Amino acid sequence: MRIGILTGGGDCPGLNAVIRAVVLRAVRDHGWQVTGFRDGWRGVLENHHVDLVPSRVRGILARGGTILGSSRVNPDHLTSSIDTIRGVLDENGIDALIPVGGEGTLQAAHWLSSHDIPVVGVPKTIDNDIDCTDVTFGFDTAVEIATDAIDRLHTTAESHQRVMIVEVMGRHTGWIALHSGLAAGAHQVLTPETPFDIAEVCAGLQRRFEAGDNHAVLVAAEGAVPAPGTMEFDQGHVDQFGHRRFAGIARQLQLEISRRLGADRDVTTTVLGHLQRGGTPTAYDRVLASRLGGRAVEAVRDGKYGMMSALRGTEIELVPLADAVARLKTVPGDTCAELRALL
Ligand code: F6P
Repeated sequence: MRIGILTGGGDCPGLNAVIRAVVLRAVRDHGWQVTGFRDGWRGVLENHHVDLVPSRVRGILARGGTILGSSRVNPDHLTSSIDTIRGVLDENGIDALIPVGGEGTLQAAHWLSSHDIPVVGVPKTIDNDIDCTDVTFGFDTAVEIATDAIDRLHTTAESHQRVMIVEVMGRHTGWIALHSGLAAGAHQVLTPETPFDIAEVCAGLQRRFEAGDNHAVLVAAEGAVPAPGTMEFDQGHVDQFGHRRFAGIARQLQLEISRRLGADRDVTTTVLGHLQRGGTPTAYDRVLASRLGGRAVEAVRDGKYGMMSALRGTEIELVPLADAVARLKTVPGDTCAELRALL
């Protein structure tokens, strides 16, 4: 048996832990072979790969990024790419493929599975927006990094009586914004799920100032949007991979809040960006990523294709890829309200 593995989409702390777990379980425990495709689906489409043996994955558990590289390339959903992929898998004697990725990568995995290519997906994203799994690895690390940054910004906000806006990742969902915002004691959190009313945001800030607090920390997910017609808003553009590139919510908020609060009020921005995805994964993410990778190998052993390994409660289970990609896991309204009530 030979397994192929690839890591697609944005990098994420814990990807190397998945690769390591897959190689150790497949090679050491089952005596199989593992081929690592380079740079996500691009490596499969272009037949670019390396052999993965246990010595190659030694010491990578704590390393951020992915030793295989990644890209946002996805198969183009045309018969020609199925034929190319089938050809590359056949040529390399690949019996099953384990794509590790977020929304785009798993959708491609599901599409290939519906064309009888044996795949088992592993979910990853710092955004925590993959459905059918309680948490994705990378989220815990990202929340730790964002929390630490917001903690640090509090002291400057307080010392300089500023409104500090912190932009965190989260294209479609506010998981990182709400968790880091609550953990670090932010005063307001804006999420993509609930379009904000800038008048209410400013009224909330004014209430704080009137109550004697002279500073405020506001966390905004990068995908947060104003309610239609409430302020001028540039929603950015879509790149060649169909990926939205935002125009910068923090900067837009800064201009509008400054305009409304007046020149005396200092409003500054901090965009955490890719810092949230870099560096060493937390212990939680290393363990979760390893378990998900190990379970994917077991799924291959049992011939359970078209599935994704997932955390359900405390157990790692298999869920149909079709269900996992059917919708994104946004923050439910009551969870959002519960977390906001604690700010
Ligand atoms: O992995 C998801 C994510 O972190 C989003 O929150 C963000 O919009 C995106 O990746 C940015 O990715 P990149 O700039 O690397 O393409």
